[in-house]
Amino acid sequence: MDKYVIRGGKPLYGEVEISGAKNAAVAIIPAALMVEGICRIENIPQISDTDMLLTILSEMGAKVRVINISTVEIDCTSVRKDGAPYDLMRKIRASYYLIGAMLGRFGSAKTTMPGGCNFGVRPIDQHIKGMTALGAQIEVKGGFVYAEAPNGLLTGTKIYLDKVSVGATMNIMIAASKAQGKTTIENAAREPHIVDLANFLNSMGADVRGAGTDTIKVYGVEKLHGGTYSIIPDQIEAGTYMAAVAATGGEITIKNVIPKHLDCISAKLREMGVEIEELPDSVVVRRTGKLIRANIKTQPYPGFPTDMQPQISTVLCLAEGTSVVTESVWDNRYKYISELKKMGAEVQVDGKTAVIEGVSFLTGSTVAACDLRAGAAVVIAGLCARGETVVEEVSYIERGYQDLVGKLNSLGADITCISEPDEYSSAVV
Ligand code: EPU
Repeated sequence: MDKYVIRGGKPLYGEVEISGAKNAAVAIIPAALMVEGICRIENIPQISDTDMLLTILSEMGAKVRVINISTVEIDCTSVRKDGAPYDLMRKIRASYYLIGAMLGRFGSAKTTMPGGCNFGVRPIDQHIKGMTALGAQIEVKGGFVYAEAPNGLLTGTKIYLDKVSVGATMNIMIAASKAQGKTTIENAAREPHIVDLANFLNSMGADVRGAGTDTIKVYGVEKLHGGTYSIIPDQIEAGTYMAAVAATGGEITIKNVIPKHLDCISAKLREMGVEIEELPDSVVVRRTGKLIRANIKTQPYPGFPTDMQPQISTVLCLAEGTSVVTESVWDNRYKYISELKKMGAEVQVDGKTAVIEGVSFLTGSTVAACDLRAGAAVVIAGLCARGETVVEEVSYIERGYQDLVGKLNSLGADITCISEPDEYSSAVV
């Protein structure tokens, strides 16, 4: 696997451009399966997760034409419901969106269960509950999910999610777009990528209303047609650069963002002594003084995002005093703490709580990226550490960050990527 060698201790200065949102793209690409016609999708992040999904669609018979680095045209008019590459599906969490997309398009689906997990149990019971409520019969057997709608058609209904789930909300939205009648999703997730998926589906002829609130109504239509759609900027990628400059000190302008989506992150960083200036589609982030301790609890949007917890906790490792972090979305998202401890961080984890005693500096070490955001966290630690940090298993990072090394180096970081040929990793994000 590739490694990053980071020579730390350099403050960040300059401008960085944010790519399209990973967690929107990984739903929108499978949703293109519902469309008969050409979907032109712009602002797709160039990461291995989106590459894999595009490969899955191609192997199912979609015509995928790459227009430029961030734009593809997908034509799923003559896609087949069999022929899906199960070995690839099994490697990516977001392949669960193919259950909704195939059910909606063909009235039946066979997919793999999304594979192993990095931060505790990651069930899909709410996805299954949703599809079942829409009338599908679902069987999970031998690592596969089999779904069948009677007479090939789903029927709109009312679904109350027992847990606020991003994936289940989006999967039900996709499937219900072509169901007969109206579907109401209650206790729906409200993340920016939920709204983005609704906007994508609507631009292809669907009728989805209320995305961004906890009640989403989907009025089924017979057919979705082609169109052009541009994915929103990645809230978490932007937040990661905000955390990076908070850790190293310096001043950077983060371009191509929706500042409103960053409110939950900006508010915490301000509490920690970081200055943030909002411009119409960029933010200027500056840290010149000392970092101040803070308490953080992750929550579904608009709360503080779990996908920023490892990066912000790394910053808190350098804040004066004691900070308490509570992870309330995932069961086990603190694996990276043992890596930070190798670098001198002082953190005690007890279940969902991490108690961080700030230290005045971290020291370079060899550490592993345990998953995507954990990887971002150890890179941030390496950027501000004294000496050299080697980050191993970086394919996890490349699943979700477009050109992290190039972007950080353009801000004055000193990172070398040592490449070794590799296949897709079996990680799941
Ligand atoms: N949950 C259930 N049953 C379900 C689905 C979820 O109990 O059927 C639980 C989960 O165990 C978890 C909570 O509900 O405790 C929230 O899970 P959610 O379904 O919202 O997560 P997800 O859709 O599997 C997406 C992102 C994650 C991000 C979460 C929360 C993708 C591919 N993944 O996962 O992103 O952490 O939402 O915002 O969109 C990342 O980008 O690093 C990442 C892990």
